[in-house]
Amino acid sequence: MTSIITMQMFVCPICAAPLQVCDRTLACDLNHCFDISRKGYVNLVPAQHRNSKAPGDHEEMVAARRRFLAQGYYRLLRECLAATLDELLIEGAVADLGCGEGYFTAALVSHCRQIYGVDVSKAAINAACRHSEPINWAVASTTQLPLRTSGFELAMVVMAPMSDDVIRVLKPGGYLIRVTPAAAHLWEFKSLVYAQPRKHQRATADLNGFSLERTLTIEDQVWIEGSSLTDLLVMTPMRYRTAKTWAKTLAKQPALSLSVAFTLDVFKVSDARS
Ligand SMILES: C[S@@+](CC[C@H](N)C(=O)[O-])C[C@H]1O[C@@H](n2cnc3c(N)ncnc32)[C@H](O)[C@@H]1O
Ligand SMILES: [Zn+2]
Repeated sequence: MTSIITMQMFVCPICAAPLQVCDRTLACDLNHCFDISRKGYVNLVPAQHRNSKAPGDHEEMVAARRRFLAQGYYRLLRECLAATLDELLIEGAVADLGCGEGYFTAALVSHCRQIYGVDVSKAAINAACRHSEPINWAVASTTQLPLRTSGFELAMVVMAPMSDDVIRVLKPGGYLIRVTPAAAHLWEFKSLVYAQPRKHQRATADLNGFSLERTLTIEDQVWIEGSSLTDLLVMTPMRYRTAKTWAKTLAKQPALSLSVAFTLDVFKVSDARS
């Protein structure tokens, strides 16, 4: 199975009507128009909602994350996501919400018919377009998704904020895969940069309208060195919360054996949505 680009699941962020593709533009019946960029993504943040401050991850964070992921440190999680899609026999449309620069999104194209990657960060979606896989990319916030109601068989939220709007875009019986950091995630690194490091707490499994089907803990130990250590700091909020001396600390630590640990939860839309 190979994914295709149709953009047919996008809806107008202003009036929620379906969008039709016409040349390099998406337009609704009320003639709200959204250009498809040269790179191939559509910006579905209405002009009146575009603040001067760029929301989501900024360019430096995105670049650091892209370099870090390209080294394969989170390869095991990527493989587990693809395997989970296969096990769930997903054939319809899939949405990766808060997809970042698309490392995990791109791994799914041969496992479903249509894949949508949505992130509020323009820098992230710009970087995501570098992937050659056929993916429908959009800049949009997950708080109010410009996606068809009941259009998707599966949504995926990987280390990104959850939104109450996710359930609306899922079909009855649809799935949500949520990946959050598990307790030991990046522990050795946190111990290096924080005076009092804390382990990650389990995210709530009580999501309104969903039932938890299964949970998988994915643990790996990776050898990380050189500029990847700085990239790891830059791509996470740790950069802001650590002492200003982090650059010196990392300079003294050329390599690290690092725990990477994730919790992959599979939720299903409950029969009685509330
Ligand atoms: C830690 S990154 C994870 C990116 C990607 N899922 C991955 O694992 O590589 C979190 C992402 O969530 C995005 N994000 C934050 N708030 C968002 C929102 N309200 N709507 C859509 N994306 C959002 C950020 O721009 C960033 O790309
Ligand atoms: Zn419209």
